[in-house]
Amino acid sequence: MRIHDTITGLRATLKSAGRIAFVPTMGNLHEGHIALMRQAQAHGDAVVSSLFVNRLQFGPKEDFDTYPRTFEADCEKMAAVGVAHLFAPDEKEMYPTPQAYHVQPDPAQADILEGEFRPGFFRGVATVVLKLFSIVQPQAALFGKKDYQQLMILRNMVREFALPIEIVPGETVRAADGLALSSRNGYLSEAERAEAPRLYRALDGVRRAIQAGECDLARLERQAMAELRAHGWSPQYVAVRKQLDLQLPAAHDSGLVVLGAALLGSTRLIDSLEV
Ligand code: PAJ
Repeated sequence: MRIHDTITGLRATLKSAGRIAFVPTMGNLHEGHIALMRQAQAHGDAVVSSLFVNRLQFGPKEDFDTYPRTFEADCEKMAAVGVAHLFAPDEKEMYPTPQAYHVQPDPAQADILEGEFRPGFFRGVATVVLKLFSIVQPQAALFGKKDYQQLMILRNMVREFALPIEIVPGETVRAADGLALSSRNGYLSEAERAEAPRLYRALDGVRRAIQAGECDLARLERQAMAELRAHGWSPQYVAVRKQLDLQLPAAHDSGLVVLGAALLGSTRLIDSLEV
């Protein structure tokens, strides 16, 4: 695997790399990232990944400074799964001057759910991903369903800007007890880690109830939040939405997704399940 820390160096090499399948990351890799890289092999001649902890998508009180940085171990994992090129710029390379142009996603899609609790998050994500797309010029890019709203917003960005890139979704990779793998799981204490799969189970309970014919979605959402609260969590939202645009479903709509975000201690966990 070749590691590039400059845009010009990466571009020069990629000229002869053929069709590129791209997996952007912020590092601290786990099996969720690795599965995307494995899946990417089928979508191009070469798999390119990026590792960049993007300041633009962190709020002032969020964990930018403490976000886990495990460069050496990440490189080993990427090389082992067949990533051909890693783009790992420093902040000066990515943002030589403060980024003054931004991608502002549709507020109807970016200010709800995650966006309500993380103002500016999707603006930061969309801006860095557009910039990475411009640098890497992939033919396909892979994103996990774990970050369901991110996937939807990036898919819409690509469509609205007519970028010639196929957005490929990857299934959420979970631990045996159901907890969705996440870099932030490392913040959990042992007791919190044992409690953490309750978020998955609560969303799964909502999913099963809908599949069994329950129509009062608001009641299911309230019940799931109450269950989390009863076990010491601070839930931010549990919401049943349409998969396509994450807007409220009408009665008897199909193609739904249950999304949730909750704090366990000081760690914020998110998850989602398609119905
Ligand atoms: P990061 O959190 O590192 O995630 C990189 C990719 O891995 C994203 O597409 C994410 O959805 C996917 N992923 C994370 N956990 C997963 C899991 N358990 N199963 C499947 N896929 C999983 O998401 C970002 O970085 C950033 O916002 C980024 C897109 C790189 C822009 O900075």
